[in-house]
Amino acid sequence: MDKKIQFLKYKNGLFYVDNSSVDKLSRKFKTPFYCYSLSQIKLNLNNFKNCFNKIKPLICFSVKSNSNLEILKNLNREGCGADVVSIGELKIALKAGINPKKIVFSGVGKTEEELIFAIKKKILLINIESESEAKLINKISKKNSVTTSVGIRLNPNISSGTNKKISTGSSENKFGLTENNFLRLIKEFQNFKNLSLQGLSVHIGSQILRIEPFKKTLKILERVIRKSKIKFKYVDLGGGMGISYENKIKNFDLKKYNNLVEKFVAKKRCKIIFEPGRLIVGNAGILITKITYIKNTNKKNFVILDSGMNDLIRPALYNSKHLILPIKKNKKIIRKNIEFVGPCCESSDKFLTVKKYQKIKEKDFLLISDVGSYGMSLASNYCFRPRAAEILVNKSNIKLIRRRENLDKLI
Ligand SMILES: Cc1ncc(COP(=O)(O)O)c(C=O)c1O
Repeated sequence: MDKKIQFLKYKNGLFYVDNSSVDKLSRKFKTPFYCYSLSQIKLNLNNFKNCFNKIKPLICFSVKSNSNLEILKNLNREGCGADVVSIGELKIALKAGINPKKIVFSGVGKTEEELIFAIKKKILLINIESESEAKLINKISKKNSVTTSVGIRLNPNISSGTNKKISTGSSENKFGLTENNFLRLIKEFQNFKNLSLQGLSVHIGSQILRIEPFKKTLKILERVIRKSKIKFKYVDLGGGMGISYENKIKNFDLKKYNNLVEKFVAKKRCKIIFEPGRLIVGNAGILITKITYIKNTNKKNFVILDSGMNDLIRPALYNSKHLILPIKKNKKIIRKNIEFVGPCCESSDKFLTVKKYQKIKEKDFLLISDVGSYGMSLASNYCFRPRAAEILVNKSNIKLIRRRENLDKLI
């Protein structure tokens, strides 16, 4: 990913999202709130498209990473399809105007209600994750006198080297079919008269920074396709390409990945589908928060924020690190153990610990960086806290794209 042009950055000591200073935004909207840069989202998407320019994949944006309707509408305008994992995600993708023929549906537990809806909408692929699911899709399709286009998700038994909680491609994980079960299911397809087998899908995990797991996966796919003796029209390689949350960490090498995928396509002559989420929106979003209190102890200085684990659960859930930045820089440094925490009644409701920081005081605004993916989409009402608003900045235009939840309505 091109780090040179960034739309979320400091200019003269003030943090900007496109042309809007966060200082201005924080006076306009009640904290905590999410704020995204449309320019950054488009830049990320265009980098991805340019990199895979030769094979022209179908890019099905992973709705679970960010399901805001306005963002999905914008991605639709840019030509994206959608990767969905529930009827809710499918419905919001359709509402955003995404063509059903650009939607793929994965997930181990799709219910009958979800499958009926997806079949009626004639989406591009329902990616089957078990034999029972194949039987159910066939039964529903038969009842409705339709042929449903499906893929089968392979579990390649790969260690993706990422956090265990977001690994999906090893035999320890519930996702997809093992190679043997995959090949067995293919043999049964002659009995599924109402299924048209079009695709092979795989998704080995998220926030993967090394190329090797993808290289191994492509090798396994080649072997499985050869053994299956099927010419798949689509090979859906899922998402998983990681981003750099900390300055020191190198970005995922998309070019290397493209080289591998180009070679694969030259051999297998299939249309590639990608399901990126984090890579498209991750670095395009921030969470703006206010310091409620500062509490000093012998061990630590607790900076208590008005955003909590209900707004952003990634640090508590995955131990993930998001940099916390002041919206206005100053030159006074404090050297202490500073822990940024939320207000929820859980010790795991903490975001980051640092050894030095610029001088800050109660009521100052800060921002939590790189929260455009798996931020708001994982937010909850824990501690009966209303979910935050979302703002989209497009150059100088500021748009409220999801209102802050109203506490009285929640009650
Ligand atoms: C099936 C599937 N596709 C795509 C994604 C998107 O992954 P990422 O946001 O890491 O690109 C996920 C998320 O884990 C997924 O489960």
